Amino acid sequence: MPPQVRLHQILDWDSPQQNAGLRRELAAGLLQPQAYIAPKFFYDALGSRLFEAITELPEYYPTRTEAAIFIEHLPAIRQALGEDFTLIDLGCGSCVKAGKLFHAGVLPTRYVAVDISVDFLRDSLQHLQRELPAIEMMGIGLDFTHELQLPDELPPERRMFFYPGSSIGNFSPPEAGLFLQRLAAQMDSSGGLLIGVDLIKDHALLDAAYDDQLGVTAAFNRNLLRHVNARLDADFDIGDWQHVAFYNAVETRIEMYLKARRALSASWPDAAGRSLRHFAAGERIHTENSYKYSPQGFTALLASAGFADIQLWTDPRAWFALFFARRAG
Ligand code: AVJ
Repeated sequence: MPPQVRLHQILDWDSPQQNAGLRRELAAGLLQPQAYIAPKFFYDALGSRLFEAITELPEYYPTRTEAAIFIEHLPAIRQALGEDFTLIDLGCGSCVKAGKLFHAGVLPTRYVAVDISVDFLRDSLQHLQRELPAIEMMGIGLDFTHELQLPDELPPERRMFFYPGSSIGNFSPPEAGLFLQRLAAQMDSSGGLLIGVDLIKDHALLDAAYDDQLGVTAAFNRNLLRHVNARLDADFDIGDWQHVAFYNAVETRIEMYLKARRALSASWPDAAGRSLRHFAAGERIHTENSYKYSPQGFTALLASAGFADIQLWTDPRAWFALFFARRAG
């Protein structure tokens, strides 16, 4: 019998109370003058798979560039993490990145995989546990952008947070600073953070990475409305919506939108009956920001959030950076 992984399901779409909260959050965003859906809603089961497909696209350089940095700098990364630690993987998705580290001999005592996509997490983790029975594994289904609540049974010493893939880019820099502070508060002075950050680069490369030839990113973006229809009982017609993504050099971020191809309305049930949102032709729903940093800028953000001994590794073209930092003593 393969060992059974423990799964703490803190986020539960099926709990009436949480479901109501998420529906309120979705409805509030859709009713703003600039309609808005938070990027965490990308990741239903299909959305998580579409994101996995994005990481294989020729235009989407972050995942393979980060993987190359891991391979190139493995000895230094191993040394930074040390021995006998708990790896806490934030937004593990397929858990492939952690799996690669383990197979390369970077072995934690305990692995804690956190993801909002609970069913995807269960399958990925079960698979990894079967491959590596010696590591104690635990899953937490949680929206960690909202609250970072770790089980009491988790020892406070040697907590190494792992936040790869530049997911930190979904936060604005001030929000990212607050999030990093909250991470620092979850560790003692023996803890650390290994985090991947996408760097500012040529605009054409950035634009292509978020608007690929095959249209996988467009499908990922438009799938958001399928998920919203399911969660909110809304009636968005996906065919009416077009993927838009571009680099905003002033804000140093990719902006992603869904743009209405014609004037239309979307509606969903609410306590009073039905909410209705009208969209003019060309009007957009904001679905994601993906901030890019300079090495200096992100180092400063880490330092101001309470981290010290900041190390950074990058690829030869300086497209992506991997940082390791300890909690400031
Ligand atoms: C998962 C947030 C790191 O911003 O590159 C990829 C999400 N969106 N293509 C990113 C994403 C469109 C991705 N992160």
